[in-house]
Amino acid sequence: MSSPGPAARAGVVPLADRDDAAPEEAVVRDCLRQRPPRLPPWLGYDAVGSALFEQITDLPTYYLTRAERSLLERHSSELAEQLACGRLAELGSGSAKKTRLLLESCVRLRATTYLPIDVDRSMLDSSGDALRAEMDALEVTGLWGRYEAGLEWLRTHPGEPLAVAFLGSSFGNTTREEREELLGEIARSLRPGERFLLSADLDKSREALETCYNDPPGYSAFADFRLNYLTQLNRRYGAGFVLEDFVPEAHYNAETSTVEGILRARADRTVPIPGLGLTLHVPRGHFINVGYSVKFHGRQLARDVGAHGFGLRSQWRDHETQYGFFLFGRDGV
Ligand SMILES: C[S@@+](CC[C@H](N)C(=O)[O-])C[C@H]1O[C@@H](n2cnc3c(N)ncnc32)[C@H](O)[C@@H]1O
Repeated sequence: MSSPGPAARAGVVPLADRDDAAPEEAVVRDCLRQRPPRLPPWLGYDAVGSALFEQITDLPTYYLTRAERSLLERHSSELAEQLACGRLAELGSGSAKKTRLLLESCVRLRATTYLPIDVDRSMLDSSGDALRAEMDALEVTGLWGRYEAGLEWLRTHPGEPLAVAFLGSSFGNTTREEREELLGEIARSLRPGERFLLSADLDKSREALETCYNDPPGYSAFADFRLNYLTQLNRRYGAGFVLEDFVPEAHYNAETSTVEGILRARADRTVPIPGLGLTLHVPRGHFINVGYSVKFHGRQLARDVGAHGFGLRSQWRDHETQYGFFLFGRDGV
């Protein structure tokens, strides 16, 4: 994480990594040693990466954000009632533009504290300022760090009834192992009866997904977003990647119901990464994975989350896009 500017300190808590958490360098090194090599999702979200993600959400072919917004426009009052919380924490809050709809319904019911958790400080600052300006009855405390550190902060700062939201289908930007760990952490952060709100993109055709996750003609938001991962490796760890040597692509893997965002090498490339103490060799045609987007099956998702002590209470689906909200209660309450 880059250090915060002095003018932007109010309302954001910088989170120290937990003692048992792997340092950022170790996570990136481990990911690059996998075959194929991959990069963790959070690495791409500096201010530039977040701005590029916002551009992705505006692409005419990227249906996820519009589907989620439309569900929130229709159901946020009911969702707020069922969340029954005085504190709403959100994992990977980003611009929080859609969350605003939910927060407006929450503050209509009771005074609410919003606790956005994100690795990108610039987004926590700008979204916090915008929300405070719009809603007098809303308190905002940004938690700046990785999900695990944010969830640990929640556990050590008890208060009003808490709900945790994980929106934007970002839960799908993880491996199965990471999802299991995260669900355990979320479960440990909630008390019996408290709620977990998850939005998820459901599985669909290869054609629909590859259209959604590749740039339409005339746009470059996805390409620039994926290449920004190499810029991060150059900037943070002194790596020697030449961006033009890699072609950004996205493919649907039907066996794993996952869209994989990749950077494919145009020619054999051997790239030193001194800050990580390794040299990465990517043969021609091989690739670095820069993002999973898992597509879910509703019943299986409910079973996987349920295995961590959650009961599914309600769900809302956008039938056209097969995108859904799933609301769980801790301990099945
Ligand atoms: C795909 S964007 C979604 C943003 C927003 N929720 C939305 O739906 O538009 C993912 C967000 O999660 C943040 N993020 C990704 N991995 C994270 C991690 N491990 N810990 C904290 N924040 C993370 C990124 O900085 C980014 O703002």
